[in-house]
Amino acid sequence: MPSERPLGRIIALPKYDDPRGNLTVADLQGGMPFPIARAYWITDVPGGESRGAHAHRQCREVIISVSGSFCITLDNGQQRETFHLKRPWEALLVETGVWRTLEDFSSGAVCLVLASHDFSEDDYIREYDEFREYIARNPKK
Ligand code: TYD
Repeated sequence: MPSERPLGRIIALPKYDDPRGNLTVADLQGGMPFPIARAYWITDVPGGESRGAHAHRQCREVIISVSGSFCITLDNGQQRETFHLKRPWEALLVETGVWRTLEDFSSGAVCLVLASHDFSEDDYIREYDEFREYIARNPKK
């Protein structure tokens, strides 16, 4: 029986409190697990909508709620865990080969995603059945 593929983990980003406004940093020195190749953000999610139900083959992602809140459920085929992201300095690392679903967006939520690779449609696994086959064929080393 192969060991479980890691789901991900919360990373506490360095935050500089300041009476003029707080500042948070995402860099390698401060705990980012990879150099950032790409950033994208999701806004204006209507109530009840969900986004991002897929997995990636190569791309690792760090997901941050820079405003408002939302939930991310991670699923490695054996185990599921839901994270409620609600603070701009709490980042969630999503490992490769993990099915992730974003939902329960609050009004005005802004979801920032920092990615390890450029966009490539070939890197996506978009069907859950295909995901199950992928993890069966690619057990964690
Ligand atoms: P996608 O990651 O598929 O979001 P979701 O799983 O929530 O549907 O992104 C939606 C579309 O946006 C995708 O089909 C193509 C485009 N897109 C880019 O062109 N570049 C990017 O970096 C990302 C993330 C998406």
